[in-house]
Formats: sequence, structure tokens, C-alpha cells
Amino acid sequence: MIGLERKVLVMKVTVNGRAMHYRTVDYGARDNVVRLIDQRLLPHQFKIVELRSFEQTAAAIRDMTVRGAGAIGATAAYGLAQGLRQFSGKNQAEFDLWTQRVYDTLKSTRPTAVDLVNAMDQVRARMQTGRTVAERKALAMAAARAFAEEQVNQCRAIGEHGARLIRSGTRILTHCNAGWLAFVDVGSATAPFYAAQERGIKFHVFCDETRPRLQGAALTAWELYQQGISHQVIADNAAGHLMQRGEIDLVIVGSDRVVARTGEIANKIGTYTKAVLAARHRIPFYVAIPLSTIDWELRNGRQIPIEERDQEEVLGAWGAADNGRRQWVRTANPGSSACNPAFDVTPPELVTGIITPVGIFKPGELWGKRRKLGIQNAVK
Ligand code: MRU
Repeated sequence: MIGLERKVLVMKVTVNGRAMHYRTVDYGARDNVVRLIDQRLLPHQFKIVELRSFEQTAAAIRDMTVRGAGAIGATAAYGLAQGLRQFSGKNQAEFDLWTQRVYDTLKSTRPTAVDLVNAMDQVRARMQTGRTVAERKALAMAAARAFAEEQVNQCRAIGEHGARLIRSGTRILTHCNAGWLAFVDVGSATAPFYAAQERGIKFHVFCDETRPRLQGAALTAWELYQQGISHQVIADNAAGHLMQRGEIDLVIVGSDRVVARTGEIANKIGTYTKAVLAARHRIPFYVAIPLSTIDWELRNGRQIPIEERDQEEVLGAWGAADNGRRQWVRTANPGSSACNPAFDVTPPELVTGIITPVGIFKPGELWGKRRKLGIQNAVK
């Protein structure tokens, strides 16, 4: 992971008193390593991990060392290119079989975020233009890098469009973490925050804690703290009360998959509840996404694979003791089991607008705008 000096609209982390720019996902060509910030340790410890094979990279997606739709997309893109470099022969047919194996291993890690598949499909499409195994490997690596760079640019553009929604004094609710940690840099839902901050606008963010894994309390709060943005963590159940009292003006969340044909939004469990509440209180509800989050294939939201995660996440929680050691503590009744769907689907009528890198659209407009959204090749 390369630490760079501070620039505008990049991830700023203060480690040992020094503010540096880090990317959530990076790749080292010399050693063929994928480098990630270990998000399981935040906010208690900042650590970079190095993954030396595509198997290790796949495991890091599965165990959520890296998480968030855009970040796992970029990790999978690098993981695919990394896996292809692990192939030592020259035979084209064997290389094709190996490519499929690497692709399938990475694809099997997490089911809901479509960015993971879209990213790898971009890499695969680009590498097909190569004639030899060596050419294909090089093209795959270039495509993975291009995906990561393009994602950062798209997040910045989301910020420019979304910042128009934020005025001095706006109180914003966000859910889960669709920030720089969920992408290579900048974030989707948080990008308008950072762009508004750059314009000198003062506003306040309420971060849903986001049980069961607490991405809001642990990750979004950490990011906003690092960036110096006014914020408070709230219990997931508090938003309705705050809305009823007129203390929330705007909701901005991210998404793991937006169905282009219907405008349905898959996002972290609890998003649908917040969208219903926002509609009840006539509070604008926006979803911020890069183009890789759009699913051009599915017919409707019922077809979205919803990840079911381990019961342990609901039956207890991870935290750090006073001595800094991380530990899991059981909070639920010892004899009880849990049901743990990790995502839900919000219908389009509850969504005011989708903030994309090319503008803000109504959910029902996406399909009609598919040329503008740059997706010609993917549409069947
Ligand atoms: O399970 P996670 O942490 O990978 O979930 C993804 C998310 O963080 C959210 O659903 C987020 O709001 C959208 S990802 C950009």
C-alpha cells in the first residue's frame, strides 16, 4: 500500500500522528500481491494485509477483510489478474481452463454485490483481445488497474452531483458503510459529504450503527472522524424518532446491486426500513452508485441473491477490550438461534433519486438511459 501525501478528495488516514492517503485496495506488480486495509480490525487497529495468491485474495473477500461493493469489485478484478499471473505455462487451452477456475473461485465468495462480477467481466472482456498467454495476462492486469482508477473517478463525479443536495445545516442519515472503505477511494454515499466539505458547507451526519456487523458504527464513523466531518452514531432503531421530530433532512445510502429494469435497490439489511420511514416523513431518500453497481441482466429484485450470513453475527458482537484485544461476546440467549439475511431490497417508489457519476436519475429512468450510462455491450 502506497502512502501518498494529502491531496483533495482522497482517503485521509492519520496513522501515528501523520496524515496519509491510503487506498482501500491496491496491487503490487513486483511481487504480484493484492494489498488491502484489514477492515475487520477497524476502528481499533489500522493494518495493511498482503495477499500473495488469488486463493488468499478470494479468502479475504469471503471473510470480509475487504467488504463493500466497489472494494470487493476492485479486489476481485486484481485477484483475477493476480491468479492469471500465477499460471506458468504457455498453452492457450490450459490457460482458458485456469482462467475459469480463478474466476469461479472469486465469484463464489459473496453473492449480492454485482460489482464483483461486473469488474471481473470487464477484465475478461479486455484480455480476450490478446493473442498469447503473456499478452492476455498483461491485458488483464491493465484492465484491473483501469477498473480501480475508473471507480475512483466515478466516485468523485458522484460527489460533484450529490453535493448539490447538501446545504449549510443539512442533517443527513446514512446506513452501513458506502464510504471510501467500501470502494478504492472516496466512496459513493459519502462522496457528496466530502465534496460538500470541500466547498466549506457545514452539515451533520447520523450514522446508523448497522447491526449485526456494525459497519456504520465502526467504519463510517471512523471515516468521518478521520475526515473531520460532524457526525453521531445512532442505534438502528433511532432514525424513526429523529425523523418524527424533524431532525433528519436527507437520507443518502449506497447499494450493492441496482436492477436497471425495475429500479429496485439491494443494500445492507435495514435500508428498506429506513426508506419506508423516510417516505412516511417525506424526507428525500437518495442512493449513490458507480456504474458497476447496475445489474442490466436481472428482470426484478426477487432474483437478487441475498446473502445469508453466520448466526454468530446476530447472536453476539465483536469489539475491543480495554487492553486493545478484539473479542467476540455473546449477547443473545445461549439456547437461541438467529436468522441473518445481510441485504434487503428497496422498491423504486421509495427512492427519490439515484446519484450516478453522470447525473441524478429517478430509479425508473435507468433502463431508458442505458446508452448514457455507458452499458451498450452488457445489455442483452
Ligand atoms: O456486507 P458488506 O459490508 O460488504 O455490505 C456492503 C455495504 O457496505 C453496504 O450494503 C453499502 O451500503 C453498499 S456497498 C457500497
